[in-house]
Amino acid sequence: MNPTIELIHEHRSIRKYTDDAVPHAHILEAMRAGQMAATSSAVQPYCVIRVTDDEKRQRIADLSGPQQKVRDCGAFFVICADLRKHMLIVDRAGEDYNASLEAFLVGTIDASLFAQNFTLAFESLGYGTCYIGGIRNDLPLLDRLLNLPEGVCPLYGLCVGVPDESPSSRPRLDAEAMLFENTYPTDDETLAAIDRYDEVYTKYLTDRGAQPSTWSAAIAKKFSYASRSGLGDYYASKGANLC
Ligand SMILES: Cc1cc2nc3c(=O)[nH]c(=O)nc-3n(C[C@H](O)[C@H](O)[C@H](O)COP(=O)(O)O)c2cc1C
Repeated sequence: MNPTIELIHEHRSIRKYTDDAVPHAHILEAMRAGQMAATSSAVQPYCVIRVTDDEKRQRIADLSGPQQKVRDCGAFFVICADLRKHMLIVDRAGEDYNASLEAFLVGTIDASLFAQNFTLAFESLGYGTCYIGGIRNDLPLLDRLLNLPEGVCPLYGLCVGVPDESPSSRPRLDAEAMLFENTYPTDDETLAAIDRYDEVYTKYLTDRGAQPSTWSAAIAKKFSYASRSGLGDYYASKGANLC
């Protein structure tokens, strides 16, 4: 493995942090690395909001679960699709902004390409990270806390800090179970790969002293009921076109 691939393999989500701060110089360095991710037609439709206000951090920690790591980590960020700057440019040019699903998708795709580079840059500097989808539990409240204008769509949070734990690596599906040639495999082949992964996953949970279960049991539970059902209304209220 080369050093870049080794670093990628060292990733584990970190959920406990020391009290050490993350220097602004490191944040800017990670920001610039994040921004070097490819971005559709160079439109750069994303932004990052660092939350430093203690009370806001606690409110976001609470609405996210609660997840106390949001309050306790060295630095906490909200990653957003940002269509606002395009809205302003179009408006200044005297045109009407044409909201489209394509624009919203590009916002979420490019924000996520940025976020993974941002995260990896922090990891290369020795920090631990954890994405926080929990912010989507109550986007209207998050929106009010951060005073977000039309066009700015928060997607997920990111905790960064000096790790205070060293969890083992969470196994993934076999690469061959996710890399196909020319067509998609049969359902029997897909289910056989899932059965193989279930064994690996159960062993991983057992080794870490967690309640043994299979990956597919967790997936069956997660995807058999509706969750966060108000997201479409919220993003539409920010000017996103979801149709
Ligand atoms: C968009 C996104 C949102 C996530 N949200 C949370 C979260 O709210 N809380 C949490 O503890 N972990 C969260 N995670 C971390 C995942 O649970 C974790 O990446 C996954 O279990 C794989 O483990 P690993 O990152 O240690 O390899 C999130 C990950 C992603 C990509």
